[in-house]
Amino acid sequence: MITLRVNGSTFDTESDPETPLLYVLRNEIQLNGAKFGCGLGQCGSCTVLADNRPVFSCLTPIAMFAEREITTLEGLGSIDSPGPVQRAFIEEQAAQCGYCIPGMIMRAHALLLLNSAPDELTIRQALEPSLCRCGTHMRILRAVHRASEGFREQTSAAGGNTQ
Ligand code: FES
Ligand code: FES
Repeated sequence: MITLRVNGSTFDTESDPETPLLYVLRNEIQLNGAKFGCGLGQCGSCTVLADNRPVFSCLTPIAMFAEREITTLEGLGSIDSPGPVQRAFIEEQAAQCGYCIPGMIMRAHALLLLNSAPDELTIRQALEPSLCRCGTHMRILRAVHRASEGFREQTSAAGGNTQ
């Protein structure tokens, strides 16, 4: 049995330790924010955070997460109370089909935890592993710029702690 810590809660799973995290998140924990795209580490739609760093959950086995804090899209906010990155993506209408957006949001969140005022190049580099086939890249970039403002406000309101 492996115990996973996801969005502040713990879950025990009997799945094989080699099972990719994505399958456990979606099929056992019913966290469907992370998406299956390529299954090959090439599209980024499955991205979640492990100790605040982006990982491809389609490739990474659950055995790798035993001592780590996993954050999924659901851990950043809710429909009624979206987090600053989620809110910015909604306000900029960054999604077309929306399939890439969870991964984009997770990468943007990880970036803003490290750098709450990233420049354009830094944002582009941070999001590079995530692909958008709809071509909404410019709206996604605007959303991350907007999110950085909300992120700084939340950080100062929380006394420097956004988690
Ligand atoms: S589904 Fe994981 S990178 Fe594409
Ligand atoms: S919004 Fe459709 S793939 Fe990005």
